[in-house]
Amino acid sequence: MDKNYWTTERLNRLYKDWPADRIEELKTQIKKSNWRFGYHIQTETGLLNDPNGFSYFNGQWHLFFQAFPFGGTHGLKSWTHMVSDDLVHWENVGKPMVPDTKYDRHGCYSGSAIAIDDKLFLMYTGNVWEKMNEVRHPYQDGAWMDKDNNITKLSEPLIANPPKGVTGHFRDPQVIKHGDYYYAFLGAQTTEEKGEIVAYRSTRVDGGWEFYSKLDIGNDNLGYMAECPNLLFVDGHPVLTFCPQGADKKSFKYDNVHPNAYIVADDINWETMKLINPSKMRQLDEGFDFYAAQGINAPDGRTLLTGWLGLPDTTYPTDDEGWEGGLSMVRELSLDDDKNLIQTPVAEMKSIEDGPEDTFNGMEVDKQSLIDFKINPDADNQVAITAGNTHLVFDIDSDCQKLTLHRKDVENDGHDETRSIRLNNGKIENCKLYLDNTVFELFINDGYKTMTGFFFHEGTHLNLNWTEVEEMRVTKLANLDINGSK
Ligand code: FRU
Repeated sequence: MDKNYWTTERLNRLYKDWPADRIEELKTQIKKSNWRFGYHIQTETGLLNDPNGFSYFNGQWHLFFQAFPFGGTHGLKSWTHMVSDDLVHWENVGKPMVPDTKYDRHGCYSGSAIAIDDKLFLMYTGNVWEKMNEVRHPYQDGAWMDKDNNITKLSEPLIANPPKGVTGHFRDPQVIKHGDYYYAFLGAQTTEEKGEIVAYRSTRVDGGWEFYSKLDIGNDNLGYMAECPNLLFVDGHPVLTFCPQGADKKSFKYDNVHPNAYIVADDINWETMKLINPSKMRQLDEGFDFYAAQGINAPDGRTLLTGWLGLPDTTYPTDDEGWEGGLSMVRELSLDDDKNLIQTPVAEMKSIEDGPEDTFNGMEVDKQSLIDFKINPDADNQVAITAGNTHLVFDIDSDCQKLTLHRKDVENDGHDETRSIRLNNGKIENCKLYLDNTVFELFINDGYKTMTGFFFHEGTHLNLNWTEVEEMRVTKLANLDINGSK
């Protein structure tokens, strides 16, 4: 799509004002794509970013995502609504929440959901430009969803202004209940342009919200804005995930344009809003494209999380095809004895395994495959997926403490980009690589580290080669064609 097409008017056009055939045109174009996913959530058309409103309600899992359906660019955002019985097979409800009030005119930005009796409450940021692209006014808005998935927005915002000392960068409420109160954690930027996470609270969810406190996380390296905070409990410990944009790389290493970080603590003091004995800040995922993760403490006792396959301020080759972005598989979180976060695909993912493949070096792998390998501790190991001139290569050095991922795809004009992880306290023993055509999610040592990203390959055939790997298993996975047009 010609860059000039995306005028401010088109980027902010109300959904009702787009010509009806726009979506149909995009669908026709997207059908020709070679890069669509099989079992990852993708858009039908247009752009997808953050996961929103992840919840269990009315006997189903609900997951929304930030969407701009009219093209592969960051236009006026809405919430697309997906539901699932098993966290794997997702269906589009077809009743999105779109920006159409004076409190969300320029975007229904990110937020969360909480089930209360027979309704689901959505809390989100309504983005409003007071002066286009210069002065933004964030409202924190609310909506109720009934059992038929009909969403009714509240007529007035829940929080009409940022708190004292905070700029217009104030968004992404995560609402949770503790004791007698509902708490909302929000990402904020101070007037000194520092990132911060703040808490509001109220005894009822749809009104009475008051500023409560800044969240003291024992770290002030939150850059100039902390997006998408989530306070989760994993095995009883608080785990805070957030995106500190512009965090200083000297004390917190990351290679992506913006990181998604986490901190594990022993406890949280709800009176002082202080994390007790917080860990250092760590990267939630160490691959190329993972951001704005949202997690929940699910009613079945699990802590679940999914992230946006994509990054802000980044373009992707699919933009020209009229779509962009995806959501990661849903991951279950746990902690090991040293309070490291362990992430594994939810057990339900097993249901799409189609049985083992006849596995041999050089084989063509299905676009939807699970490649499971054990590391030979006495050698340099290498596993490579190649397609034409493009490749995704995993190198594990002979002392097995370092894994380097090389990506050469059509996105960066053929040069090799790398990401690496290093273990300080052990060896890399096993890897599970979930491949979904152009998406990969790598789980190292049963989820001790993860590396997620895109691989925009050339050509339709994906071949698998390896050297020195101790054991290799390939399993075909089902193509669920979520939001697709198979
Ligand atoms: C993170 C983010 C959020 C915001 C949303 C808008 O990717 O910038 O802070 O609510 O995306 O789409």
